[in-house]
Formats: sequence, C-alpha cells, structure tokens
Amino acid sequence: MIDHHPNFNQYRIRTAQLADIPEILAIFADEVEAGRMLPRSEEIMRANIQDWRVAYLDNVIIGCVSLVFFTPQLCEIRSLAVAESYRQNGLGKKLVQAAVDLAEERGAVNVLTLTRAPYLFEQFGFERDDIRNFHQKVQQDCQLCPFLTCCDEVALLLKIKESVQ
Ligand SMILES: CC(C)(COP(=O)(O)OP(=O)(O)OC[C@H]1O[C@@H](n2cnc3c(N)ncnc32)[C@H](O)[C@@H]1OP(=O)(O)O)[C@@H](O)C(=O)NCCC(=O)NCCS
Repeated sequence: MIDHHPNFNQYRIRTAQLADIPEILAIFADEVEAGRMLPRSEEIMRANIQDWRVAYLDNVIIGCVSLVFFTPQLCEIRSLAVAESYRQNGLGKKLVQAAVDLAEERGAVNVLTLTRAPYLFEQFGFERDDIRNFHQKVQQDCQLCPFLTCCDEVALLLKIKESVQ
C-alpha cells in the first residue's frame, strides 16, 4: 500500500465531527454488507459523535473507532475499521490505543470488545472473557443481532483501573 500512499505516516487521529458521518459509514459499508460488522444508526452516531475517533490523511478519513457505554464503568470498543488500502500498517493498533485512551479519559473501569481480530486487542492486554458475563451488552445488542445464534466473535476485556466498589 505504501506505493500509492507515500505520505501515509502523516495521518492524524482526532475526535469525529458530525460532517464526518457519511465518510465513516462509507469506510465500513463493505464490511457491513459482507456481514462482518454491524450497521450503526446515523441518529445514534450523531448523538454520540464525541465518542468516535477518526484517522485522516490529506483530509480524507481512512479509519475509525468508537466507544459505547453500558454503564459509567463499562464501555465497549466498537466499529473499528481501517480503509482497505491502508490496512496492515499499524493504523488499527493506533485506533485501539486512541479508544483505550478515550475510555480512560471518560473514567471507565473496564473496556469490552467483541471481535474477530482478538490478536490485535491481546497486544494491549485485553483478556478473553465470556460475553454472557456482560448482561447489559447481551440485552442491549446481542438480542437484536442477526448473528445471535451464530456469533463467531470473541469477547475480550481490558481492566484499565481498579473498581472503587
Ligand atoms: C481489523 C482492522 C481494523 C485491522 O487494521 P490494521 O490497520 O490492518 O491493523 P494493524 O496494521 O494495526 O495490525 C495490528 C496487528 O494485527 C495484525 N493483523 C491485522 N490484520 C490482520 C489479519 N487480517 N490477519 C492477521 N493479522 C492481522 C497485524 O499483523 C498486526 O500485528 P503485529 O503488531 O504483530 O504486526 C482492519 O483489518 C479492518 O478494518 N478490518 C475490517 C473491519 C473489521 O473486521 N473490524 C473489526 C475489528 S474489531
């Protein structure tokens, strides 16, 4: 990929803005269509835009990630995607780091992720868990998910600070 993007290392990561939503949706449109990522509602994205981070290069969005909070202590990293021609260059990892930093900033205690790319998260200290331990997630999302009975995602959890309770 570096061949046709010689300035790749000039990308930056920032908080998403409302105007970014169509570009973000375009980045994961193919993955949604292929059933590898769940669709996101534009309305919910607008309401929570401050919990999205985007990577951009030459004013074009090339990656995204978001946090979804189930409780003030528990959040999930969701909608991690890198535009196809920029993959395998470390950007996915930078976006995971940005999401973990944001979770810390927001005071989360635990960060959950449900993924088909567990190797990526394990490098940050995420540990494999059982999705049934997260009833908020199961009730809110899994029950409505088309893959409820055939889920092939791995649940991983990162404890970022000790709970005070
Ligand atoms: C998953 C995804 C975000 C990774 O982005 P990326 O920019 O290619 O990731 P990175 O280059 O930072 O790679 C991080 C690590 O994962 C490895 N990796 C990335 N994609 C991989 C793949 N498809 N198969 C095996 N290893 C892979 C890299 O080799 C790297 O490991 P290393 O640090 O030991 O070298 C990207 O492939 C993507 O957008 N996929 C489609 C959307 C998707 O599946 N999202 C769900 C993820 S929760």
